Amino acid sequence: MALWGGRFSQAADTRFKQFNDSLRFDYRLAEQDIVGSIGWSKALVSVGVLTAEEQAKLEAALLALKAEVDADPEQILRSDAEDIHSWVEGKLIERVGDLGKKLHTGRSRNDQVATDLKLWCKQQGVILLDSIHGLQTKLVATARQYQTTTLPGYTHLQRAQPVTFSHWALAYVEMLDRDYTRLQDALKRLNTSPLGSGALAGTAYPIDRQALALDLGFERATRNSLDSVSDRDHAVELMSTAALSMIHLSRFAEDLIFYASGEAGFIELSDKVTSGSSLMPQKKNPDALELIRGKTGRVAGALNGMLMTLKALPLAYNKDMQEDKEGLFDALDTWHDCLDMAQLVLEDLKVNEPVTKAAAMGGYSNATELADYLVAKGIPFREAHHIVGEAVVYAITQQKPLEDLTVAEFQQFNTVIADDVYPILSLESTLAKRQALGGVCAEQITFALQQAEQHLSAR
Ligand code: ARG
Repeated sequence: MALWGGRFSQAADTRFKQFNDSLRFDYRLAEQDIVGSIGWSKALVSVGVLTAEEQAKLEAALLALKAEVDADPEQILRSDAEDIHSWVEGKLIERVGDLGKKLHTGRSRNDQVATDLKLWCKQQGVILLDSIHGLQTKLVATARQYQTTTLPGYTHLQRAQPVTFSHWALAYVEMLDRDYTRLQDALKRLNTSPLGSGALAGTAYPIDRQALALDLGFERATRNSLDSVSDRDHAVELMSTAALSMIHLSRFAEDLIFYASGEAGFIELSDKVTSGSSLMPQKKNPDALELIRGKTGRVAGALNGMLMTLKALPLAYNKDMQEDKEGLFDALDTWHDCLDMAQLVLEDLKVNEPVTKAAAMGGYSNATELADYLVAKGIPFREAHHIVGEAVVYAITQQKPLEDLTVAEFQQFNTVIADDVYPILSLESTLAKRQALGGVCAEQITFALQQAEQHLSAR
């Protein structure tokens, strides 16, 4: 039975009912709706609407319902109730009769759904923090495994300067760390209870909303009833955090897709996260990574959808806001799955060290070293840069790396260049020079790994 039949003499068109009903997706809020309802029943005792015995009866029935839902959440989908709030209330009335009809006193589905969704966000937030942490931990372990493995570093996808595989992995640990704290921040801000805001103007019963908020595990009650029922900032913030983190994961995916390409051949992905072609027997495709990259669009799309839904919505509640759930659920599910999948991709990933080393040495990625060498000999950097540019053009025509030029060849470009240039041009020296904080030398990598390990184990 609908919750609002009294004013209506005609049944809803079945097509409208289908269009309007939200049970097929908000059934995921069952647990939160039940927990919120128990909290509300206690508040109703404090204002004399329910006796303690009545409340105990309601609470027992709600807890029994929760146990049933936990065991089989999909059973809810078999009902034709309008939404999860109607479903819970209907079940309650089925079990405790008329007493169940008292529960909605002083409450609206508007403050109820706002509360349910925030409770759900809090629960999901904890799970997502854990997933981010898991991926960070795996990245650090991968960095340990390939601590000294060299890798070409790129700008403009042109070989720029050598780095290490560990340095690459630790870059993603940093990105995910910002995602982690962004999520914590969003969770802190959404930790306020709208319950007791009524439909929009506040409940007419003298409920201690602060106590109710604490009872439901919130930090405090919201301050303005109009805002309470029309605020969906938490959905936006969580989707925005998810979208940005997905952008990070898409870059991670893209890097690895390129590293796994035949052209690079830097890594081999495990059979567990790749698939074959139905036609070309030789293919091993990086599907897990491509899907992470692809799903980024859908999470960013969900964020945009929510923003557009909220744009210019008049206060307070409007049915438009029912559109908050599908996008949010999908965005957070997708983010969660991608964090998980990224971790799985790293599990059996193999770096082809001879190939990454050869690539790191190639592409004239030691040209900056030659410029710095000239600077050390007293040539201003801008001039040194020009000289090295000419030397690189010459080396390209000779089809040789810089370190294979003879001193005589070097001296065509500047006579200060002597035998002591060769150690400077080595891969080892190039890495070792990057001593400043955040650089790629061995000591900084060791330091960064220790810091990351400590930081993650303290979390
Ligand atoms: N299913 C609705 C939603 O998700 C619940 C709130 C409905 N409130 C109302 N006044 N129609 O937003």
